Order: sequence, then C-alpha cells, then structure tokens
Amino acid sequence: CVFGRNNFDSFVLKYEYFNAVLINEVDEEGNNVELGGEFLLEPNDHFNNLSVNLSLSVVQVPTNMYNKDPDIVNGVYWSEALNKVFVDNFERDPTLIWQYFGSAKGFFRQYPGVKWHPDEHGVIGFDCRNRKWYIQAATSPKDVVILVDVSGSMKGLRLTIARQTVSSILDTLGDDDFFNIIAYNQEIHYVEPCLNGTLVRADRTNKDHFREHLDKLFAKGIGLLGDALAEAFTILSDFNQTGHGSLCSQAIMLVTDGATEMYDDVFEKYNWPERKVRIFPYLIGRESAFADNLKWMACANKGYFSQISTLADVQENVMRYLHVMSRPKVIDHEHDTVWTEAYVDSALKDKAGPSLMTTVAMPVFSTKNETVSEGILLGVVGTDIPLQELMKLIPKHMLGIHGYSFAITNNGYILTHPDLRPLVTQFLNITFSPEKIFPVNDLLFQINSKNHQSMTLLSG
Ligand SMILES: *[C@@H]1O[C@H](CO)[C@@H](O)[C@H](O)[C@H]1NC(C)=O
Ligand SMILES: *[C@@H]1O[C@H](CO)[C@@H](O)[C@H](O)[C@H]1NC(C)=O
Ligand SMILES: *[C@@H]1O[C@H](CO)[C@@H](O)[C@H](O)[C@H]1NC(C)=O
Ligand SMILES: *[C@@H]1O[C@H](CO)[C@@H](O)[C@H](O)[C@H]1NC(C)=O
Ligand SMILES: *[C@@H]1O[C@H](CO)[C@@H](O)[C@H](O)[C@H]1NC(C)=O
Ligand SMILES: *[C@@H]1O[C@H](CO)[C@@H](O)[C@H](O)[C@H]1NC(C)=O
Repeated sequence: CVFGRNNFDSFVLKYEYFNAVLINEVDEEGNNVELGGEFLLEPNDHFNNLSVNLSLSVVQVPTNMYNKDPDIVNGVYWSEALNKVFVDNFERDPTLIWQYFGSAKGFFRQYPGVKWHPDEHGVIGFDCRNRKWYIQAATSPKDVVILVDVSGSMKGLRLTIARQTVSSILDTLGDDDFFNIIAYNQEIHYVEPCLNGTLVRADRTNKDHFREHLDKLFAKGIGLLGDALAEAFTILSDFNQTGHGSLCSQAIMLVTDGATEMYDDVFEKYNWPERKVRIFPYLIGRESAFADNLKWMACANKGYFSQISTLADVQENVMRYLHVMSRPKVIDHEHDTVWTEAYVDSALKDKAGPSLMTTVAMPVFSTKNETVSEGILLGVVGTDIPLQELMKLIPKHMLGIHGYSFAITNNGYILTHPDLRPLVTQFLNITFSPEKIFPVNDLLFQINSKNHQSMTLLSG
C-alpha cells in the first residue's frame, strides 16, 4: 500500500525546458526568464494562423504546482523524446493538429509549441489530469459511492476541506461512471434525497446538481460509519446486479477526520474475501490519531489512504486514487483507445465557424520489468481530431441519394451530423487557452433536417 518516491539525479534539476507560459517572457532588464527562453513562433495556416513552432513541443505545469519539482523535471526530461515522434507523425499525416502527452505527475507536453496565456487573474487552471480524455483513458468505467462525515468534529475548516475533496472527486468522474454521495453522522443522509438508494451517471448536469447540495451540509452529532458503509456496499452490489452500472470497478470514497473502529465485521459481511469494492479513505485535518484505522481499511480493501491537511492539498491527494484504479489495466496491458464526446475548440475555427473536435486518447504505462507488476501509469497520450476529418472517411456511395450519416457516442451524445451547427456565436476571440474548449452537448445546437422540421438539443 505504500508508494515510494522516485529517485532522481541531481543533473535533472539543472535541466531547462520550454514552459508554455514563460516562453518569450522577459524580466525588467530584458533578460529571458527562467524556463522561458527565446522560442520562435510563426503563424501557420493549418493552425488557423495561430503562431506555432513545428519542431518543438512546449510543457505546461498547473499554476498550483512548482514547475521545478524534481518529479516534474524528471518526467519532462524523459518525455522530450516525444518531440521527434510528434514531428514524424505530423510529417506522415499533415491533417493532424494538436498532439500531446498528459503526465500522471501533472505536466502537459503539447506539439506544436504554442504560447499559453493566463486568464485575467494570472492563473491557468488547466490540469491535464482533470480532462475527460485523460480520465477516460486512464481508468476503466467505475461506480463510486462517496461517504462524507458530517459529525460535530467536522465543523469549520474541516467541512470546507471535505466539500472541496468531494468536489475534486467529482471532477475525476466522467460520463462512463456512476456515483452517489451520502453524508453520515449518527444517521445517513443522501445528499440528494430524491436519488436515494441508487447511483446516477456522472455527467455534468448531475455533478453540478450534487455540488449545489454539498453547500447545504452542516456538521453535528457523532459519526457512525458502520451504517454508511453497509448502505454503500448495498447500493453498489444492487446496482451491479441489475446490470446498470459500469460493470467494471467499484469504489467507496471515505471523507472523514477519523474512524474510531476498524469495522472489520462490515467488510467481512460485504466485501471479503473477493474485495471487489476498493476503499479510498481521505483523512481530513492535521491530526492523525485515527489514521491507523483508515490506513488499515485501505489496505484490507485494495485501496489507498491519503491525508488532506489544507485546501491546497486537496487536488493532488484526490488524484492519487486514479493510479490505483488504473492498476488492473496496466497489469492486463489494456491499451484501449478512447474517444471523447464532441466539443468546440475556439482556438481553431475556420470560416464556417468554430470547428467541432473529438479527442482520441490512450494510456501510457511503465514497462520496466521491476515495476510492471505494480502497474504504474505514466500518463495519457492524445490527439484532437476535427469531425470533418472523420466525416471524410465515410463511404458516400454506400449511403444512397438521400442518405446521410451521423454518429453518436456510447453515451448518447451527438458526435457528428451533417447539419449540426452551434447556435452560439461567441467564439470570436483567438488566444490559446484550453479553458475555452466547450463540450458540444453543453451548448445549444440545432439540427435542421431535410424536410425543414427542426430539432433543438439542450443536454448536459
Ligand atoms: C522552434 O524554436 C526553436 C527555439 O527558439 C528554434 O530554434 C527553431 O528554429 C524553431 N522551429 C521552427 C520550425 O520555427
Ligand atoms: C491566414 O493568413 C493568411 C495571410 O494573412 C490568409 O491569406 C489566410 O486566409 C489566413 N487563414 C485563416 C484560416 O485565417
Ligand atoms: C430512502 O427512501 C425510502 C422510501 O422513500 C425511505 O423509506 C428510506 O428511509 C430512505 N432512506 C434514506 C437513507 O433516506
Ligand atoms: C458485477 O457483476 C458481474 C456479473 O455478475 C460480476 O462478474 C462482477 O464481478 C461484479 N462486479 C463487482 C464489482 O461486484
Ligand atoms: C523482463 O522480463 C521478461 C519476462 O519475464 C524477460 O524475458 C526479459 O528478459 C526481462 N528483461 C530484462 C531487461 O530483465
Ligand atoms: C480579443 O480580446 C482582446 C482582449 O479581451 C481584445 O483586445 C481584442 O480586440 C479581441 N479581438 C477580437 C477579434 O474580438
């Protein structure tokens, strides 16, 4: 259950890379800033006249992480070999647009090189590990029940951190996943009482809806975890038996400031010996008096224990569970490619308006002999594909005179349709920022069918 830290050589610390935000930035004296440097950029027609560098990739590190962290620098160093692969790919297939590698350590390597601009607050919120393509490729579909302790001891900052933790867990769930959230003290309370005893799809509408309910939680009473665990195991097992869920992995996320017991009788009754449901306890706060019980629960149920002391720790700690959930994939050498739902990329629009894109992505695992059984996920590679390119592959002669083709994703989202047009025309400004990428199904779209009936789609 314990992950060791990577050793690194001190030379790596001196290694410099092109940071997407810092390139071409100068200090007051006109010198290039560290990790910046002169980076030649030229407008390129294929990238809608965005200025890019076709021989090098750039690296982006989330604002809340130290961009010279040894783990990051080490990863950036070995992933530099991708430059050649990216360039070769682009030479072989000039229709390609962005190619990238999102690392499990948090950095994002993108080709061709392009300058990134922070928002008005000087922040780039982008963390590749939160993107749909990353999560979809890194983990198998999963059913998750989140248990939040709302006993009296959680009052104040702890509850704030707990809410943020739950919200970050929701960020890591996607359309292929199912979830529910249960708050517990001496009783159990479904955060959304109307969705009692079941799991719902982790699409954006449902996640936003549950987030609103999180604000209404308040702490009082004593925490009795046993009933909450029993309820969670029951929902997961019922859901699997009806064949509704992900039919893949199941997990219980436990957000609490401590457990006074081990609850081995509950695990014995519901989860042993197969241990099909993994338990991920998140200990909130600085104290670790009850950490031992939580660590034991994680180990006894194939999970992972994390302690979250401050709000700043939340995201990094929450993401760790993704490693454990992707482990079976690594060990089984499952290199499935995944396709995301269509989205609008505002940075690459043509005369007809913003282009619709999908992303195809694939997980990257460590193949070192000594770590292969631990199942280490290094990150996810991906490339964006304009849907127009996909449409070109469809053999026209097979469709007949009035025939046309369209595609939907496995989750029922529209991927392509010949008459799919955004009704929103606000994508006029081109400064590159991945935050300006909108999933199609969150916008209003209109399909005009041949006989002039129109169908308007508004979906989450
Ligand atoms: C990319 O940037 C590097 C560093 O500034 C420069 O040496 C190289 O010529 C640039 N490549 C292209 C194709 O502009
Ligand atoms: C890019 O710029 C060139 C020259 O300024 C122009 O002819 C071309 O239409 C532009 N392409 C796009 C896609 O805007
Ligand atoms: C769930 O709903 C059922 C029936 O509406 C009710 O009897 C039960 O007490 C509810 N359970 C919880 C935990 O709210
Ligand atoms: C869900 O049900 C299937 C089929 O009965 C079974 O093979 C699988 O192990 C179950 N998964 C879990 C997590 O219980
Ligand atoms: C790695 O393991 C495989 C199979 O166990 C073995 O054939 C191979 O020689 C090993 N490679 C190295 C570099 O030890
Ligand atoms: C894009 O936005 C910037 C700053 O918000 C503004 O100065 C510029 O005029 C805008 N460009 C277009 C084409 O709207």
